[in-house]
Amino acid sequence: MSDIRDSKMKRITNQKLATTFIKKEIESIKKQVGKQKVLLALSGGVDSSVVAALLIKAIGNNLICVHVNHGLLRKGEPEQVVKVFKHNLKANLVYVDARKTFLNKLRGVSDPETKRKIIGKVFIDVFAHEAKKLKGVHFLAQGTIYPDILESKKGVKAHHNVGGLPKDLNFKLVEPVKFLYKDEVRQVGLALGLPRDMVFRQPFPGPGLGVRCTGAITKDRLNALKEADAIVREEIEKLKYTPWQYFCVIPDLKSTGIKNGKRYMGWAAIIRAVNTKDAVKATSFEIPHKTLYRIRDRIIKNVPGINRVLWDYSNKPVSTIEWE
Ligand code: XMP
Repeated sequence: MSDIRDSKMKRITNQKLATTFIKKEIESIKKQVGKQKVLLALSGGVDSSVVAALLIKAIGNNLICVHVNHGLLRKGEPEQVVKVFKHNLKANLVYVDARKTFLNKLRGVSDPETKRKIIGKVFIDVFAHEAKKLKGVHFLAQGTIYPDILESKKGVKAHHNVGGLPKDLNFKLVEPVKFLYKDEVRQVGLALGLPRDMVFRQPFPGPGLGVRCTGAITKDRLNALKEADAIVREEIEKLKYTPWQYFCVIPDLKSTGIKNGKRYMGWAAIIRAVNTKDAVKATSFEIPHKTLYRIRDRIIKNVPGINRVLWDYSNKPVSTIEWE
């Protein structure tokens, strides 16, 4: 099958067009896989969630979703995957708690690229291990979208969706949204009844909070990051307008604080919120002072280990959006 989007294909800009796409795709999935089982790595991101919802409609329990909880997702995300897919959509979901494995493999590793490589490799190992346990599954569904294909072709990025799994698994691929752009995938997600906050989730790096817990990751600092990040998201989402990406970073750095009249060393939570079109250039989003103060007060009061809150208002370039 060609890897080029048909130039006559209409852009999916509304719910009616999304419904038409879904109907057509269900038929083509049924034709491709028949009564066979299909495996899917469900991260909870927009693309894999939409593919899962589409396949559940097409083949029901013959779709086996595997959610690997690597411990680097944001607060509440693994729970949302289980709630939406297992409980609401009645998916055949295998939940793998791999948090300890990832933390162990990442222990003491501070180089950002090595961290990225370890996260990617351990993910594939855990997923392949689960896949091998399921006998007789020959199809693998993936949330590849059109920009992934274009970027891989240009050599901009090697996408995990385009290659990556061990060849001996010998899967045939099912990629129902591979000719769609992100906005179209979102239209399809809404038409499939996925929750709005899942469909309009802000971009989130593959290595997850691993790139925001800079240096060697520890369980305590990672937990503090999840809590502080949840506060940042909650406060920013109260605003009339929410920026493109907003989150918290906790670098591997301690500074002096005072608690109960005594000195103690704590981490700094760094607030980052940016607007951008394509992530190539980005401008810092002007967070209202009241919001900044509320974030500061809530983090200091509620997140153990943090004694300082900073706002990173740098633009890209020269600063990248992420800290690692
Ligand atoms: P930077 O930090 O390069 O980020 O300004 C640009 C956009 O890419 C996201 N990002 C990543 N996404 N794997 C990903 O899947 C990564 O390793 C990664 N690093 C950065 C970042 O969140 C931003 O949207």
